[in-house]
This record gives sequence, structure tokens and C-alpha cells, in this order.
Amino acid sequence: MSNQTTHKRETFSGRQAFIMAAIGSAVGLGNIWRFPYTTYENGGGAFIIPYIVALLTAGIPLLFLDFAIGHRHRAAAPLSFRRLNKHFEVFGWWQVMVNVIIGLYYAVVLGWAAIYTFFSFSKTWGDKPVDFFVGEFLKMGDIAQGVSFDFVGLVTGPLIAVWVVALLVLALGVQKGIAKSSSILMPVLVVMFVALVVYSLTLPGAAKGLDALFTPDWSKLADPSVWIAAYGQIFFSLSICFGIMVTYSSYLKKDSDLTSTGLVVGFANSSFEVLAGIGVFAALGFMATAAGQEVSEVAKGGIGLAFFAFPTIINEAPMGTVLGVLFFGSLTFAALTSFISVIEVIIASIQDKLKMGRVTATFLVGVPMMIVSVILFGTTTGLPMLDVMDKFVNYFGIVAVAFAALIAIVANGKLSTLGHHINKTSSFKVGTIWRLCVIVTTGVLAFMLLSEGVKVFTEGYEGYPSWFVDTFGWGMAILLVIVAFILSRLPWKNEPEFNVEE
Ligand code: ALA
Repeated sequence: MSNQTTHKRETFSGRQAFIMAAIGSAVGLGNIWRFPYTTYENGGGAFIIPYIVALLTAGIPLLFLDFAIGHRHRAAAPLSFRRLNKHFEVFGWWQVMVNVIIGLYYAVVLGWAAIYTFFSFSKTWGDKPVDFFVGEFLKMGDIAQGVSFDFVGLVTGPLIAVWVVALLVLALGVQKGIAKSSSILMPVLVVMFVALVVYSLTLPGAAKGLDALFTPDWSKLADPSVWIAAYGQIFFSLSICFGIMVTYSSYLKKDSDLTSTGLVVGFANSSFEVLAGIGVFAALGFMATAAGQEVSEVAKGGIGLAFFAFPTIINEAPMGTVLGVLFFGSLTFAALTSFISVIEVIIASIQDKLKMGRVTATFLVGVPMMIVSVILFGTTTGLPMLDVMDKFVNYFGIVAVAFAALIAIVANGKLSTLGHHINKTSSFKVGTIWRLCVIVTTGVLAFMLLSEGVKVFTEGYEGYPSWFVDTFGWGMAILLVIVAFILSRLPWKNEPEFNVEE
């Protein structure tokens, strides 16, 4: 294990190792359980238009931007932003804090997926998967009665296990831990997932599911919320604007081709997403046919899809256990490599700031986070907490920090500096169109923030009590900014001189 202090910064062994790690980060819950339902809900086949627009005008350009920030400054997000402009450090810490929140709940879903892989063998959830998940498995309490912190053994065990596995990988370092694990897990994931899709397509009713997914509802294109959904999907799914790609690209060798690498990562992520849409909806088509229902009655996203619908499908499908292992195994592997990238941002930032070795920083970050994760989500209030935090950290964390950082970058004329850096080593050059895309995206982010902000502020969120949303939603989002500000004011331990070779 590498525990040297940061005299010599770790690197990926080469472009391939980086691509594997970056795809490992991008392909996660966002692809498998968010994309299919988001597409279905937002116009089906017609959603492909806002999705492609968001990918080409925001996803790929901002992926290049993240790569440029990390690669030029050779540090995790806070120090990279500081090296771009010393007043920008706060954006880096804000991104770190976003990862703290995502890491806390991502681990929980990962733990659920892992244990459900084992449940698939005996179909432990029985005939009523919803009752099992909410009752027997989560022992969910009623938040109207207040927050309770009773530990649930079945949830806590796997949760601790996934933390231990991820921390061991992270302690091994960038190449031996992160790149190595992704280069093993990603090919396995692709094989498992392709098998899942092929199998799902053979189920009776699969075509009905695909029809429901892809039949375009063009009228939806006039609805701004559909466009917001497309941009939201791209940001989370591509792991952009929350420090991950900045941190990973800081480990790339100096002469790396940033844009061609970015294109590979961006298109691989989207291809996986579309594949997931096909597999998931083919299976939902089967579920609807078996129950004599419409796909609209069984289609779900997120937790409902994975832990309500899929167990039902597994109960009914021929070779259900195989389907279960393929689905939950894929979810586990996809989520594990993304989870590792989320925690890496925090570890690398602490390493930079405190000049700390990797193993010490992993321990310092990992153990307290594991404890908080268990307290918040290994208990009977885990599910609503997760739902609210996920919503708020996405819109009032990722989108908010992306908007703030982009405004600062554009207003300070740093876009040309970063574009120049990209073009120094990349074969595919960026220019006016790229800068225009970044500027337009900044406007789109402002619109997203405003419209979602007004909506949640006036309507509340999913009927949760307002004290709950105020505390774990708004309160959490505001706290992230305050903590980020404080962290950016703390002194650096022996901050090294940094000169960019232009
Ligand atoms: N990009 C990761 C996902 O899609 C965070 O889940």
C-alpha cells in the first residue's frame, strides 16, 4: 500500500486505466435505475432529443472542462480550483461536500443491491416484495412520528461490508486500487448486463415494454421540466461538476489526449444507459403481460424499480434466480465503482490540504463517514432520508455548485485558459463552440435552479412533512455551502509552489 506523503503524485498507468476508472465512475445507479424511468416519464422516444442536446452541449463540454481543471492543476478539486484562482477554492470544497452526502446514501443502496443478489437465490422477499422491503427488510418507521434511530441488522451488515471493501480499494491507491478494480469490474459488468438484456428480450411481453419506452410523445418537448430532467440526468450520470472527473484527471499523465478520452467516456456512458433502458423495459413488459396490466401500471424508477418491480419479475420469470443475480449483481458492480470515485474526491482533497498519506487519509475520511452512514441510513428512517437528500443534493448541490463555479470561471476569463490547456495535448481541439456551450449551459443551470427551487419551495417534496424537508433537504444544502466556506478558509499545510507550463 502506498502511504508516502504527496511528494510524488500518484498517476494512472496510462490512458486505458484512466478510461476504465472514469467509465467505472460514470456508469452507476444513474444509468441502471434512473435513466430508463426518466426516459419513459419524459416523452419516451421523444426524450432522446433533449437527452442528446444535453449530452452534446453540456455533458461532453463540461466533461472536457472538468478534465482541463484537474489535469492542468494536478490536484483534487479544492486545490485545482485554488490553483486556477485562489478565490475559487470554495467551489472545490462545495463539491467535496456534495460527495460527502452522495457517498453517505450511495453506500446504502449499494449495500441493499449486494444483499439482494444473495436474496435472489432463495427469493427471500417472498410473494410480497414491497411489504418485505419496507417492512421486514427496512423496518421503516413513520416519519410523521419523528426521526428514529433503531438499527436494522439486515441493512447495517451489508452497509458496513461495502464500506470496508471500498476503503480497502481506495487505500491501495490510484492505479493498484481504483484503476485495477475498475478494469476487472467493468468488463464483468458489461458481460453480465448484456446477458441480462438478451435474456429480458426473450421474455414474453418484452416488445410491449420496449413500445412503452420508445413510443415518442412529442408534446412533451414543449415542457421545460422534460429538458431539466435531461440535463439533470446527464450531470449525475456522467459524474460531472462534482469534483470526480477533476480529481481523476489530475492523475492522468501530462501529455494525455483529454478530448478523445472524454468522448470515449461520454459515449460509453450513454451507450450503457440506452442498453439499461432496453433491458429494464423488456423486463417490465414481461411483468405487465404476466399480470395482465399495462406497462404504465408497473413502470417505476429508482428504489421502486429495483426493490419492488424486479423481485416480482424474478418471482415470475423462468430462471428467475439467474435474472436476479444478473440484475442485482450488475447494480452492485456498477454502484461500487461509482461509490469508490465519490469517496476518492474526499480522500484526495484531504490528502492535498493536510499533506497526508493515502492510507491515513482513507482511514480519516472513511471511518467517520461509515459511522454516519450507518446512523443515518442503517436505521428505520433511512428511506425517506435518502429520498430527500438525493433530490436536494442533486438540484441544490450539484446544479448549484456547477452554476456558481461556471459563473466564476467565465467571468474571470478562465475559459480561454482552460481551452488553451485542452488544445495543448488533445487531438480534437476546442474553440468558440465549446466556449459557447459552456456559457449556454451556465444559463440552463440558472433556469434549473430557479424553476426547481420555486417548485419545491411552494409545493414541498413528495408529501414529506415540511420540518423533515427543511432539515434534511434545504438545511443540508445550505450547510454544505457553509462548511465549504469554512474549509476554504483553513490554512494549507506547506502548500507547494505551482507553476503551469504553458
Ligand atoms: N455517475 C454515477 C451514477 O450514475 C454517480 O450513479
